[in-house]
Amino acid sequence: MRVNGRDERLDVPAWVTLLDALRDRLGLTGPKKGCDQGACGACTVHLDGRRVLSCLTLAAQCDGREVLTVEGLGGAHPVQEAFVRHDAFQCGYCTPGQVLSAISLIDEGRAGTDADIREYMSGNLCRCGAYPNIVAAIREAAGR
Ligand code: FES
Ligand code: FES
Repeated sequence: MRVNGRDERLDVPAWVTLLDALRDRLGLTGPKKGCDQGACGACTVHLDGRRVLSCLTLAAQCDGREVLTVEGLGGAHPVQEAFVRHDAFQCGYCTPGQVLSAISLIDEGRAGTDADIREYMSGNLCRCGAYPNIVAAIREAAGR
């Protein structure tokens, strides 16, 4: 698969998830393992430009495909900058998933209102409760 613009060759058993392949085999620890069962969104990455839960995606399904993790954004993406400006995190554990999900949300044209942002970001949980700041950051990034 191609990960963050680099070709990576992996030989993994059929049951290995994309999340475990990224974290344990490629050392990309940006995607977080929150629940490992599709409930929290901390593991969100992009697969061929669309947001997916990497804990529910098998690495073998990604053969020949394009994966983007938070490491691939380089730290200066407008959504990342908006998160910093709006203090849209506390512990930061959910943040890589929030950012990848927010980028997709904007690309999908679903960031029209605060209610839309809350609805279409509802798969990304934040145990620190930074939701108002996350919504403000996404609203600003979408406007830019
Ligand atoms: Fe994938 Fe929680 S770790 S949704
Ligand atoms: Fe701590 Fe979201 S910033 S879980």
